Amino acid sequence: MGDHIVEMNHISKAFSGVKALDDVSFNLKAGEVMALLGENGAGKSTLMKVLSGVYTRDAGTVLIDGQPVDDLTPARAQSLGVAMIHQELNMCTHLSIAENIFLGREITRHGALADAEMNRLAREALSRLNIDLDPATVVGDISVSKQQMVEIAKALSVNARILVMDEPTSALTAREIEDLFAIIRKLKAEGHGIIYISHRLDELRHIVDRVTIMRDGRFITSMNFADTTMDEIVSHMVGREIKEKFPRIDSRRGRKIFEVKHLNAGKPVRNVGFSVYEGEILGIAGLMGAGRTEITRAIFGVDAKDSGELTLDDTPVVIRSPMDAIRAGIVLAPEDRKKDGLCTRLSIRENISLPNLDWIADRLGVVRGRTEQQTVAKAVADLSIRLASPEMNAGNLSGGNQQKVVVAKWLARTSRLVIFDEPTRGIDVAAKVEIYHLMNRLKQDGIGVVFVSSEMPELLGMADRIIVVCEGRITGELDARTATQNQILELAVAFDDKTNGAAA
Ligand SMILES: Nc1ncnc2c1ncn2[C@@H]1O[C@H](COP(=O)(O)OP(=O)(O)OP(=O)(O)O)[C@@H](O)[C@H]1O
Ligand SMILES: [Mg+2]
Repeated sequence: MGDHIVEMNHISKAFSGVKALDDVSFNLKAGEVMALLGENGAGKSTLMKVLSGVYTRDAGTVLIDGQPVDDLTPARAQSLGVAMIHQELNMCTHLSIAENIFLGREITRHGALADAEMNRLAREALSRLNIDLDPATVVGDISVSKQQMVEIAKALSVNARILVMDEPTSALTAREIEDLFAIIRKLKAEGHGIIYISHRLDELRHIVDRVTIMRDGRFITSMNFADTTMDEIVSHMVGREIKEKFPRIDSRRGRKIFEVKHLNAGKPVRNVGFSVYEGEILGIAGLMGAGRTEITRAIFGVDAKDSGELTLDDTPVVIRSPMDAIRAGIVLAPEDRKKDGLCTRLSIRENISLPNLDWIADRLGVVRGRTEQQTVAKAVADLSIRLASPEMNAGNLSGGNQQKVVVAKWLARTSRLVIFDEPTRGIDVAAKVEIYHLMNRLKQDGIGVVFVSSEMPELLGMADRIIVVCEGRITGELDARTATQNQILELAVAFDDKTNGAAA
């Protein structure tokens, strides 16, 4: 037992009477990477927030370096070497990198901020991780992945030895993930203990020593990674076996539903054109930053178009705003749930019913309570959203369940074209399959489905046709049933070795 740097025993935690953690035990050794796994809402983030002092436990003991810690506040956790990189990053985007790293423990000289010294120390912290960033850069100007690296640098600069990473790779590109793994290996070799939460199970084999699995707020098991299999892990997570990972259905391609031609929108979207047919799921592949999200936003009217013609059921449509799009029958489940998709301070009920008030309310604008209730109940059931009550704040849902609400609110209405931008990001294995089934249902109902994803296996497994985007342009089209990951990748980097924009 002596070599555990963290030992959590019989931890319980309830939120307004609902148990999020029920008698959970967990431990971590120095120099190991422990994966903490479980479905959305299983309690992973909550357990780690207990460890980092964000939440006070109702029962149980926590030992750090063998010493019981009773007064586990964020400050106390930090002083004991615990640092948590949260699922939703907590950076002050208007401050510089150095200011973020020293937030709350600014260095002063003669009563003034010692900017030069903080910049120097911040640069040191970054270079320990081989990150080449100017500490004076405003955090809002760097990518999410770099922000993640800054969070890690910040953790190391307070001498954290116990690092919790809550879904660090959900917004990273393949190359950035490689960088992160290199950092994790380095930290591990230096004797840090790392707790790693992720729904991307295929990446675990690169870094993980042990796994701890939770389900419904309870501890299920801890195992050496080398002694188990993916199937075993998944069945512990969901309590049953998952048979079809990608339940693609065959259906006949019907009429053309939607077409976009010559779409241009600033630099990221250049002369884009494609069609969507009845009875198919159109996949859009590409690397992070290729312009896929920008294409969906331009179509949906979030961003202005410089040019482009859209037709829906052979009728030209003009879309200047999301309202125009929704009226025409086009909806978009966006990628960034926190920014575009979810009102965290409204209830789950309100989040689902608000965009549907046009048909949930009667002609006088009065909400029909029963219709609303049924709509919300159906959405919650369809996606197995794990909640205590539809009246709870959407912001208090687990990360993956928030994502499900974003998807659910758009599926509650009848549309002609549904665009999903990374709908399964941060969603657990079982819920992914539920989202795939929903896409299938739309496809069978003759509704156009566009599926943007960075995960090639799910595109190859669920789409019928795949178009690939590189630097804002479509570089090719593939039949998803015969295409390979390599073919997608080749098209995704089609312009990589040429100068920007020089290729036609
Ligand atoms: N502040 C809060 N108020 C009320 N309920 C909460 C709060 N924080 C978490 N919960 C609930 O506790 C349960 C566990 O949530 P938690 O965020 O720990 O799940 P998770 O395993 O991290 O899931 P995900 O994979 O989706 O991130 C969920 O049912 C969630 O709604
Ligand atoms: Mg979580």
